[in-house]
Amino acid sequence: MSGGKNPETFTIAVACMLLAAGCLAATPVQAADLESGRRVVEKWCSQCHAQKGAETNPDRGPTYEQIASREGRNERYIRAFLDRDHFPMTTYRLFDHEKDDVAAFIASLARR
Ligand code: HEC
Repeated sequence: MSGGKNPETFTIAVACMLLAAGCLAATPVQAADLESGRRVVEKWCSQCHAQKGAETNPDRGPTYEQIASREGRNERYIRAFLDRDHFPMTTYRLFDHEKDDVAAFIASLARR
């Protein structure tokens, strides 16, 4: 074979990368990523929700700590809530995996 680029080597390299990516994606059913959940709510929801403490400004929503401390607001409840319309916030779209992370994050803030 002549020198220079070897298409086979290239193909193998690509296959390896795909395999590695596949493995990363499939690694232990990492239920949800709290850190990612925190980033998502900081980016999309901080206009109305603080994370911790008690909200006293009536123009804003309750803090996540307050929400999570309400009766029955467990991760499952919050996850289902995120699939519904959220008045007064009408236009947001999160990916399903983001909703999982957000629900886990909010639930993790519950005062116990
Ligand atoms: C435009 C303001 C606004 C934005 C933006 C907003 N929310 Fe809210 N949210 C509210 C208000 C107001 C309430 C209070 C309703 C209540 O007391 O249950 C609320 C309540 C909630 C609840 C509690 C529901 C319950 O039944 O206890 C959750 C969970 C929640 N928001 C999540 C989010 C998430 C996640 C985002 C970002 C994707 C977000 N909100 C963005 C205003 C907002």
